[in-house]
Amino acid sequence: MENDNKTKNETTFRNGEVPRDAYKAWLRYAPLNPDQAEEYAPWCGTVVAAFSGHAPLLATACEELRDGIGSMLGRRPQESRSSDSERFLLVGTLDSAELKGLMDEADMEAVGDEGYVLRTVEQPERRFIAIAGKTDKGALYGAFHFLRLLQTGQRIRDLRVVENPAGKLRMIDHWDNMDGSIERGYAGRSVFFHHGAFLGNWNRIRDYARMMAAVGLNAISINNVNVNETATRLIAPELLPSVAKVADVFREYGVRLFLSINFASPIELGGLTTADPLDPQVREWWAERATDVYRHIPDFGGFLVKADSEFRPGPFTYGRDHADGANMLAEALQPYDGVVIWRCFVYDCLQDWRDRSTDRARAAYDHFRPLDGKFRENVILQIKNGPVDFQVREPVSPLFGGMPLTNQVLELQITQEYTGQQRHLCYLVPQWKEAIDFDTYALGEGSTVAGVATGALTDRPLGGFAGIANIGDEPSWTGHILAQANYYGFGRLAWSPTLTSEQITDEWVRITFGNDPAVVETISRMLLDSWHIYENYTSPLGIGWMVNPSHHYGPNVDGYEYSKWGTYHFADNQGIGVNRTVSTGTGYAGQYHDVPAARYESVESCPDELLLFFHHVPYTHVLKSGKTVIQHIYDSHFEGFEQAEGLAEAWRGLEGKVDGDRYASVLSRLQQQSKHAAEWRDVINTYFYRKSGISDAHNRTIY
Ligand code: GCU
Repeated sequence: MENDNKTKNETTFRNGEVPRDAYKAWLRYAPLNPDQAEEYAPWCGTVVAAFSGHAPLLATACEELRDGIGSMLGRRPQESRSSDSERFLLVGTLDSAELKGLMDEADMEAVGDEGYVLRTVEQPERRFIAIAGKTDKGALYGAFHFLRLLQTGQRIRDLRVVENPAGKLRMIDHWDNMDGSIERGYAGRSVFFHHGAFLGNWNRIRDYARMMAAVGLNAISINNVNVNETATRLIAPELLPSVAKVADVFREYGVRLFLSINFASPIELGGLTTADPLDPQVREWWAERATDVYRHIPDFGGFLVKADSEFRPGPFTYGRDHADGANMLAEALQPYDGVVIWRCFVYDCLQDWRDRSTDRARAAYDHFRPLDGKFRENVILQIKNGPVDFQVREPVSPLFGGMPLTNQVLELQITQEYTGQQRHLCYLVPQWKEAIDFDTYALGEGSTVAGVATGALTDRPLGGFAGIANIGDEPSWTGHILAQANYYGFGRLAWSPTLTSEQITDEWVRITFGNDPAVVETISRMLLDSWHIYENYTSPLGIGWMVNPSHHYGPNVDGYEYSKWGTYHFADNQGIGVNRTVSTGTGYAGQYHDVPAARYESVESCPDELLLFFHHVPYTHVLKSGKTVIQHIYDSHFEGFEQAEGLAEAWRGLEGKVDGDRYASVLSRLQQQSKHAAEWRDVINTYFYRKSGISDAHNRTIY
């Protein structure tokens, strides 16, 4: 066990380095400018706690407020149980004596279990700012909201805020292995595990839990969905005490712990001969494991399951379907209020590339759509944003429109597997917003993915958002410091999917780099442009997979073309793209409801950016932009490279305005990015020039 006795401010790293700004991420609480400090200080001298009954997270909320305010204003607020100062912060639960009557009935009703109210109250003899949750957890989120207002320089004298999270489940999935490696991790090693055991860096885990709570996240699964031998044992008696210790730390911040499980555990762990979900012994085995897990962790969240996918075991082995598998686990967890999160990332990964009738994009819908209504109430299906696999550009998975009777969670990949691996700046909030705002037409116009995933539209009890973590043990957590914005943005969107990309970006930049307008403007622009820039020099018009196999970094147009993974672009000397139409193609376009289906079915109405995802067209096909496909490929790659250079250029303009360490760290990544963007430009342009024989209209250098 390392670092066990240190306080949270003393966390050190493998190389003995002390945390700096990058480590503190959005909990930096940098000193405010004197004007702001003067406005806030009178309110922030005292923190009064008000609660009735058991409210452990209230202590956390008060401590966060005192720490954060102390750091921003240079004076740590006093703690008090009575409100005799002239102005103060009153933090508590709405049912406490001090806060009762503060709000009328209707307002009270509007606050849900995790919701909160921020209100400036002026009474004749006292003035205070109420930070009040229905529960202590709500109050904790309210405290972080209040701190955010100070960090971003907002007015606090007339607050009237009521907030509730849109998604019940706001979850982070770690793909951490117990040997300390992280599947698709680009920021060092696991913060949880090493050498097959728990790392025991509790301070770092606590700091991480704080970061999660500060953006409203409430659930975490700590181990990879590909559950290997050692991790299978996380639910076994010998490892549960350590798992429980991790859960204890997260609990202090209102985060519930989940585990990824191995569907074959009854065999691998229990010594049974089968894992058949309908076998009574198997069911009994899971029920017993569940009981044991809850003995150690009474508020355990549940199991996350990748089954019958990429060689993971599952119910198919026994001739059963996903509902049989998920329901069996759900039954075991039901008595304890646990849930099963069952992933829909299921497809044939041993496809013959010669076979053009099988379409991987269809797979999730084909497997799961027929099971709508067959899952138990405590099962949630976790669906990736797109039908294939986290490519730079994909349409939205049609499953969001296809299973109105089933709890669903939208799965997003925060870790930048296909989007530059945290060496390139690729801010994903705008991409996620497109998915979240997409209209599925499931229940008529206005049936957005956000509405489906949160259950608000379909009236489902469970739902929300899950993001694959981009976190590792690097001092900056994310390697690329600007990649912190992706994690932050995920949390904010999971809480409030109606926030705009611009709002989230502005907020993150201010919190992370301060309120200097030039800094805010420059970094916001860089972030907001970066996904399109990355798309420009990598993947044109909805074509994915032109990457080096296995590690997925760098250009390789045919890297996956003749493979078993079902990931093709079908480029020949005439044209490129996958015909997924109903009329002459794989029929995938027909998995959407009428309006989006018709939009994608026809070449005329299909948006340019997804054209090659849905259609195979000649290189000379003219896009809505007026350019031919081949000229678009050339132009976007030349332009994308220049834009990547522009990112580094823009950053250089901030020298002296951003502290030296973070400035240098980001600059070196941006320089690397433009170098690699040139490689992408040249490989892609050269490939398509040689394939098509068509010259660039502007005669630029293609090899
Ligand atoms: C991607 C990724 C895998 C991961 C898989 C999943 O395919 O490359 O490493 O296991 O997604 O989501 O399960």
